[in-house]
Amino acid sequence: MAQWYSITVAALFLALCLAHPQYRQLVCKTPDGKLRGGPDRARCHMVIKDAEDEQPGRPAKEGEGCFTETINGVAHETCDLVCPKAHTVFLAHIDQGHRSCFNFYTYKLEKRQQDWYLWRNGKCLNSTVEFTIGCKFDEPFSTQFKNDNEVFARLAKARARKA
Ligand SMILES: *[C@@H]1O[C@H](CO)[C@@H](O)[C@H](O)[C@H]1NC(C)=O
Repeated sequence: MAQWYSITVAALFLALCLAHPQYRQLVCKTPDGKLRGGPDRARCHMVIKDAEDEQPGRPAKEGEGCFTETINGVAHETCDLVCPKAHTVFLAHIDQGHRSCFNFYTYKLEKRQQDWYLWRNGKCLNSTVEFTIGCKFDEPFSTQFKNDNEVFARLAKARARKA
């Protein structure tokens, strides 16, 4: 009986706590530092994290993983989240009261085939903003990417795609 109980607890723990999450932070900064569209484009970098509270995370180089594209005649900057085959991708955090980044209008999480992206457009492109995105996988992330170098290599390739 006690053994059954501990097996059940262990299974529950595995299901709930070890759902194989990853976190991505997209950190975008403008010269004026404002949470609203200004006269300058933001410069962004991605941060790879295994846990939401991991500090400071592992930052990619500025712009890596992001490329520009035109969707319905509108300029977008799209960033690869490196979450292929994630079963769930969600916005865990964005600066409260942001004045120019609005879900579905000026930014959006988007699945394309097996991959997940975050795009921004309009005034959101010219705003200081931080997005934290969670990705959940059925399998440990290391079954797809052995180490950070493989993740960074993939981000570098996403940048090249804009050419
Ligand atoms: C954003 O910044 C660019 C580059 O400085 C500028 O040309 C553009 O007009 C700005 N966009 C908005 C919506 O203010």
